[in-house]
Amino acid sequence: MTDFFDVVLSQRAARSFTPEDVDDATVARILTAATHAPTAENSQPFVFIVVRDPDIRSTIGAITARVWEGGARDLEIGRLSPAFLRDVDQGAMGGVAKAPVLIVVAGDTRLTFAETLDSSLFPAVQNLLLAAHALGLGSTLTTLPVLSGNDLSEALDLPPEIRPVAVVPIGHLPKPLAPPRRLPISEKAHLNRYGVPFTTTT
Ligand SMILES: Cc1cc2nc3c(=O)[nH]c(=O)nc-3n(C[C@H](O)[C@H](O)[C@H](O)COP(=O)(O)O)c2cc1C
Repeated sequence: MTDFFDVVLSQRAARSFTPEDVDDATVARILTAATHAPTAENSQPFVFIVVRDPDIRSTIGAITARVWEGGARDLEIGRLSPAFLRDVDQGAMGGVAKAPVLIVVAGDTRLTFAETLDSSLFPAVQNLLLAAHALGLGSTLTTLPVLSGNDLSEALDLPPEIRPVAVVPIGHLPKPLAPPRRLPISEKAHLNRYGVPFTTTT
């Protein structure tokens, strides 16, 4: 069995994919991991649209590029390092949509409270990312395509009660990704009260 900590400490965003396909059995394993995430009241409001159709993937790519070029890129200039900006840019301008499978994650607004809907969807997204990585595949949580009004819903025939929150590309990586860069827990965790860093001597 793959060690959980090896998976979780090396998972990171992939924005380039080879054309190699990901078969349905693999997608089903990844989706099964997603459905095992916690949800408020075990309401399981997630809805997954597995997009393989090249035309629909290309429409999602076009929606993403429109949001990116329509203002998101300008917002990120100066906030992201040049290398990071280049990676997000090539992902938003077609790299992400080239993945053979795009999993659109949506929520059924009838199944839980509005206040807890998103909180019941993103644990499932995280499980998708970790499961894909554990199986040697690349993936990324993307939200740019949900920022274009109803365009994504229209492309997928989603009824109004099904609200998309993320698009996760799944595919094979052209080359392994470098390790993720994260701040140490001493900068993020506090002991008992805010301001006292949590540290450990073990
Ligand atoms: C709420 C959220 C929205 C994100 N949206 C996008 C996106 O639209 N496009 C993209 O390329 N990456 C997106 N990301 C991925 C982040 O850029 C990535 O997780 C973060 O920079 C860490 O990078 P790493 O996994 O390579 O270490 C998003 C991540 C989160 C948590």
